[in-house]
Amino acid sequence: MTWTTIRKRPAGDPPPNLPDYAAARANFTWAAARAELEGLPGGGLNIACEAVDRQVHAGRGAAIALRWLGKTGERREFSYAELATLSDRFAALLRQLGIGKGERVCALLGRIPELYITALGTLKAGAVFCPLFSAFGPEPVRVRLHKSDARLLVTTTTLYARKVQAQRAELPALAHVLLTDLDAAETPPAATQSFQHLLDSAPTCGITLDTRAEDNALLHFTSGTTGSPKGAVHVHEAVVAHRLSGRLALDLRPGDIYWCTADPGWVTGMSYGIIAPLVNGATLVVDEAEFDARRWYSILEQERVNIWYTAPTAIRMLMKVGAEAAQGHDFSALRLMASVGEPLNPEAVVWGQETFGQPFHDTWWQTETGAIMIANTRSQDVRPGSMGRPLPGIDAAIVRRLPGGGIAVLDIDQPGELALRCGWPSQFRGYLHDAARYQECFVDGWYLSGDLASRDADGYFWFLGRADDVIKTSGHLIGPFEVENALLEHPAVAEAGMIGKPDAFAGNIIKAFVALRPGFTPSDALRKELIGFARTRLGPAVAPRELEFMADLPKTRSGKIMRRLLRARELGLAPGDVSGLESDDAEQAES
Ligand code: WT7
Repeated sequence: MTWTTIRKRPAGDPPPNLPDYAAARANFTWAAARAELEGLPGGGLNIACEAVDRQVHAGRGAAIALRWLGKTGERREFSYAELATLSDRFAALLRQLGIGKGERVCALLGRIPELYITALGTLKAGAVFCPLFSAFGPEPVRVRLHKSDARLLVTTTTLYARKVQAQRAELPALAHVLLTDLDAAETPPAATQSFQHLLDSAPTCGITLDTRAEDNALLHFTSGTTGSPKGAVHVHEAVVAHRLSGRLALDLRPGDIYWCTADPGWVTGMSYGIIAPLVNGATLVVDEAEFDARRWYSILEQERVNIWYTAPTAIRMLMKVGAEAAQGHDFSALRLMASVGEPLNPEAVVWGQETFGQPFHDTWWQTETGAIMIANTRSQDVRPGSMGRPLPGIDAAIVRRLPGGGIAVLDIDQPGELALRCGWPSQFRGYLHDAARYQECFVDGWYLSGDLASRDADGYFWFLGRADDVIKTSGHLIGPFEVENALLEHPAVAEAGMIGKPDAFAGNIIKAFVALRPGFTPSDALRKELIGFARTRLGPAVAPRELEFMADLPKTRSGKIMRRLLRARELGLAPGDVSGLESDDAEQAES
């Protein structure tokens, strides 16, 4: 698709932060990017210090760091100075409770101010922050609390009662649970404490920060085809990439009003919902409410949002509501609209231009990369359907794994696996307790992403699909293992296989195929029961939306469920068409 970006933007817009792509790449060094940070006395580095304290040191303490819009119309604002003090106090509180360096602190919270205080305070204390998606059911929550050996959890009374309390005995490492919504007079439920009470009684004087660049800072769970979720570990040095990508890809600058619609339970909500905008001195707009097209348009208008980072599913939902809802709003403050997390269809890019006077700018990255790697930026023409070009400092290529080990870098327009040359600061440093799975991601100094893509002659990358069986649904990455395991716990289920079924809004929905045990017969009632059973365990964001019974599930000789055959069947492809199968699946299927 040849297409020239027409930006109907006011002449007063500041020039882009990345005016000359080729020159910025040619002159780039990570050392120079690192030198832009303040650092700690003695050579250390701390993400929260760069995000908050640094702005105070630069005389921007009174600027608004966080503007919170409550579900029911409340507004609360926190200046950088206030956020610095509150995060200091949370760090002091952690030290008083004996949470040591590198120990994990989890948050199971919606988008409320306490989440931001917890995240930044944990980083200041030198502990590792691990956000959990509040729409997860009890099972994904238990698995992640367990696998992270969480020592402390911050959550609400309701989320605790629904998702954690019954499993507390299985989590011996979890020494403290802090509830954010207790009234001063209320007695906390057994084995919990009041977040507010502890924060109020924590020392107000600053704490000494003593983290090094290579100390662990963040833990984000993500999924693969097999096994339980993987905990990707990131270090404080990641902030070098957060700052740089926020500035170059999202065009952030001090004083910007910035809205990232991603939930902080996932990596986007952390890297670009908290760190990158604060490090660049912006004001975060945080909306507690769920998606609502009319509400979103008024937030963009009334808060005078300059930079908006959102996701394809949300954009498609806005498109569905229709253009009238957008009409009559003044979006003139919007300088850049960007998207991430799943393929952004060309129609959505073009719709952005028609509705807002500028296209959506697609960006690509992953939990493992920690920061944006590939982007369409303000100064370049957007190619609708393309993810853009690698940022300065990032080397990306399309490769093929060679049977005897090693990789071959492929030519332009050849489909292959998207790979990144190792060495960028926000690269994950391991999967927690899973060294072997970590090693498998690297070949000859390249990180292999598991995404299939191609690169055109001008260096733009085009997404083709996943090389594995994980599924993107509404932008959330779901692994088959958790879903299939939950179904297998039901007494009627003998075998379960999950696929992504293409959906016009969510990208994919999760569809499960189930073979029943002897003595059970397929029925509508049983189908509903199984879906309900999975929802109770997994939560609505992870549970299958559709379920189909089969006499037997297709398996390899070694007994692996062949999800790709299930998918081919669902999409009406010929059963013999196994072109998209992993090589061992394909061999098995042919045999
Ligand atoms: C996977 C990573 C991106 C950070 C938040 C999610 C898919 C990401 C795009 C894009 C097509 C995309 C890939 C990737 N993805 N961005 N612009 N176009 N697909 O991180 O949960 O680790 O998911 O999201 O498949 O591997 P994540």
